[in-house]
Amino acid sequence: MIAIPHFISPIEILLQIIINKYLSESYCLVVISETPLSVKLPMSFTYLDPKKEHFSVETLLKLSEEGCSDYIIRMEDPRQFMNALEEIRPMSMVRRSDKKLVILPVTDDENSMEPILNLLTMKESSYYAHILLILPTQTERFECLAFNLITHRFVGSDSESKLPIILDRWYSCTNHFENNVYLFPNDLKNLNGKTMKISTFIYKPYVLLDVDTAVAPLGRDGIEIRMIDEFCRWINCTVQIIREDVDLWGEIYENETGIGVIGSVVEGRSDIGIAALYSWYEEWKAMDFSVSVVRSAVICLVPAPRVLESWELPFLPFGKSIWIAVVITFVYASIGLTIAQGCSSNKALLIVFGTIISQSQYIVSDSWRIRSVIGWLLVSSLILVSAYGAGLASTFTVPQYEPSIDTVQDLLNSRMEWGANHEAWTFSLALSSEPVAKKLIKQFKIYSFEELQRRSFLRKMAFSLEELPAGTFAIGEYLSKEAVQDMQLMLEFFYFDHCVAMLHKNSPYTEKLSELIGRLHQSGLLLAWESQVSLKYLDYKIQLEIRLSRARSDVGDLKPLNFNHVEGIFLIFITGTILSTLFFALEIFIGKQARKK
Ligand SMILES: *[C@@H]1O[C@H](CO)[C@@H](O)[C@H](O)[C@H]1NC(C)=O
Ligand SMILES: *[C@@H]1O[C@H](CO)[C@@H](O)[C@H](O)[C@H]1NC(C)=O
Repeated sequence: MIAIPHFISPIEILLQIIINKYLSESYCLVVISETPLSVKLPMSFTYLDPKKEHFSVETLLKLSEEGCSDYIIRMEDPRQFMNALEEIRPMSMVRRSDKKLVILPVTDDENSMEPILNLLTMKESSYYAHILLILPTQTERFECLAFNLITHRFVGSDSESKLPIILDRWYSCTNHFENNVYLFPNDLKNLNGKTMKISTFIYKPYVLLDVDTAVAPLGRDGIEIRMIDEFCRWINCTVQIIREDVDLWGEIYENETGIGVIGSVVEGRSDIGIAALYSWYEEWKAMDFSVSVVRSAVICLVPAPRVLESWELPFLPFGKSIWIAVVITFVYASIGLTIAQGCSSNKALLIVFGTIISQSQYIVSDSWRIRSVIGWLLVSSLILVSAYGAGLASTFTVPQYEPSIDTVQDLLNSRMEWGANHEAWTFSLALSSEPVAKKLIKQFKIYSFEELQRRSFLRKMAFSLEELPAGTFAIGEYLSKEAVQDMQLMLEFFYFDHCVAMLHKNSPYTEKLSELIGRLHQSGLLLAWESQVSLKYLDYKIQLEIRLSRARSDVGDLKPLNFNHVEGIFLIFITGTILSTLFFALEIFIGKQARKK
């Protein structure tokens, strides 16, 4: 053991009782003591002497990573330990909601009690539910030693929760406890109205604030708000909303500070952060996550394809390559005819053009050379013209649309930007090494609310939204009903992610909250809440418009031909007429000039 005992002091006897009763289940224990302790430890443990070299933040971190997260501390100034514990918090990856801290005085001296009691008023102490102080006290019986067993209230109002309470008293002569109570009483069953600070902002349908109190008595509602309210009803806490309307989800800086919902949880300004926070890796390194609350799917609304402009119709029956082939045929046949005519260009272009558009030709020629060139040209143009005619008939009857954006690859190919008012939409993709994800991040743009509102009518970008398990869409307020009418939902999801509640690392509430969420899933309440909230608060017209965006009635209708269909042909005719008139005028003009000379 740590030291071979010559005699065992009363405080060691008491510590032994506490270890046997409360810490025997512990996976691994860290004992930090300036003086040797004679106790038997029935579990694995590490002994650190703060007076010697080997008590450092690095050692503490290494131990914490190995799962040694219950502590027995006997230091002159235990605040050092609390600070070290706080220092390793951002770096440590192993989390536990129920760390136990047992703190002993170094001497029996009354003066050494003060720093230990002050420990309870430290901000750091409020992150731990299980702190036990063992402090010697006066007794009437002279030969007897007595020890107070003290902890902080932890529960109750802000002013109360830091106050020490004496749980029990132990006498060395009789070796018995006065009250015989459980020494780690903060099991989070009843927080007695303790404030639970929730940082969030309005994000429908997860979080709705500023609701008319006639509609929702507390002035707030939403899937995650209901979860939090249920949590506080269960463990008797008081919800205090901390609004992050400006920085929204926010971010964490290198220096362990941050802004927005995430930042306020990291800095300890709030206990729980909610608002559709996905299980992002960078955030997981800095905070505790509850289990998944809502499975969410990210997808985009893209501009719905429109019917093609009608002037393009005459060009549609043939693809690009056939048009090129037609032009080559024209040039080639003209050259052929010119050669056949004995290198005379006598109307060669006109004759070939006329033949290609199947016009009869008046040619008086006995030459078989010319006849065979024209003959073969007639055969090929017959086929081309019938193919064109058939194609034109089909483009006239079935409406033609612009290419539609259905998959992520379509979006990448079209180089259309997608965006929202915060970077958070790309956090889940940020660490991916897939080329598609990398390109998606590049095409993502952040705009202000007003700019997004303006752009929603320009058909130039895609807007990200979430689809929830019960079929609700979480969309930005910047998309109005009018704007949505001209958009359609893509067919392929970008990615799926799990919404969680984020808590301070090692928060005592994490396990409790996860337990509640498990119960909510089990009972189906989360799905029911989602439907209730969306029916009550969301604009069902927008929801329906998005849901049915691919089944709009004007898509695929067959209509009788109207002027629009032949607009393009008239356009060609008018262009031709104008050009020929111009040339005609030019010819007359040039002729006159020539005659004058
Ligand atoms: C909840 O806390 C309040 C104090 O805010 C207390 O008056 C009440 O009795 C507690 N409820 C229960 C069920 O203990
Ligand atoms: C932390 O970093 C951010 C940005 O990098 C800076 O704005 C902030 O002032 C820093 N805070 C502290 C306490 O150093």
